[in-house]
Amino acid sequence: MSSVQPCGTSDDDRRPPLNDILSIVRRGLAIEPKRLPSWLFYDARGSALFEQICEQPEYYLTRCEVALMEQHAGSIADSLGSEVRLVEYGSGSGLKTRMLLRQMDRPVAYVPVEISATPLSQSMRRLAEEFPALTLQPLCADFSKPLRLPIPPCAPRRTVLYFPGSTIGNFEAGDAVKLLRKMRNEMGDAGGILVGVDLKKDVTRIEAAYNDRAGVTAEFTLNMLARLNREIGSDFNLSAFRHRARYNPMAGRIETHLVSQAEQQVKVGSSRVNFRSDEVIQVEYSCKYSLEDFAALAAKAGLAVMRSWTDPQQMFSVQYLVRTSAVAR
Ligand code: AVI
Repeated sequence: MSSVQPCGTSDDDRRPPLNDILSIVRRGLAIEPKRLPSWLFYDARGSALFEQICEQPEYYLTRCEVALMEQHAGSIADSLGSEVRLVEYGSGSGLKTRMLLRQMDRPVAYVPVEISATPLSQSMRRLAEEFPALTLQPLCADFSKPLRLPIPPCAPRRTVLYFPGSTIGNFEAGDAVKLLRKMRNEMGDAGGILVGVDLKKDVTRIEAAYNDRAGVTAEFTLNMLARLNREIGSDFNLSAFRHRARYNPMAGRIETHLVSQAEQQVKVGSSRVNFRSDEVIQVEYSCKYSLEDFAALAAKAGLAVMRSWTDPQQMFSVQYLVRTSAVAR
């Protein structure tokens, strides 16, 4: 029988309380240029819209990563070795995780780390059905903060942190290094990090992925304002803002903005925020890397790429990182 252990927290959900959201938004709209954190996208509606983005014909990332797993899950699992504790940052739809777990040799435990309790328990149910012998230890927590991992049922040979989806690309380079360094501590000396990384490519292709014809990404971006109106009582007029996602070739990233369509005032808590016409709120970066760029970033965190898997068109990569000292040995 698979054992599913409780979240290890008494709270149902670890998202910041509404007062914190209000002060984060106030601060973000008081600076120049205005800026809001991308985690604000992911309320229930935003998470559902993100699932829809993944199915859009232009959004190649998910399809490429799933195809890579279809083709290489066996050799990826071989690189991780046997009796691994697999810790996933985020719990997603679980498809790629299931593909990996099917190939792994006697995994000791699976620990998905997810800030929202509902998707976490949904993915647990599915996994328990398919992997009845596997110990599931869901952890309701913010993976960007230091984690206290649950005690595994028996000592694993190594802990592997799985971070698919190119979510690492949503962190600016300096923050990505900090996050990788934190992961390096959590995985221990013998551990590893299996990370999905979107690659640099033709700009038209990248920009299309963030400007799908059906307008799902635009709806996803604007939903952030709908969420704020509902949760902190702001009065953003959604039709007075527009989604804009452009590739910045110097920085190697998609920069997503909400662009004010007119001079306007918006109520945020007890104060009013002024917008000029065409003024932007920066809401997301999606960094793209070459294999060399990413190896250099990993090196700054004391990590080396032990192996990487890419598709023939070099659209996307899955990379296995270990401590630099483990390779030098
Ligand atoms: C979750 N993350 C990797 C997505 C990305 O591609 O940056 C989020 C996203 N934003 C717009 N489309 C997808």
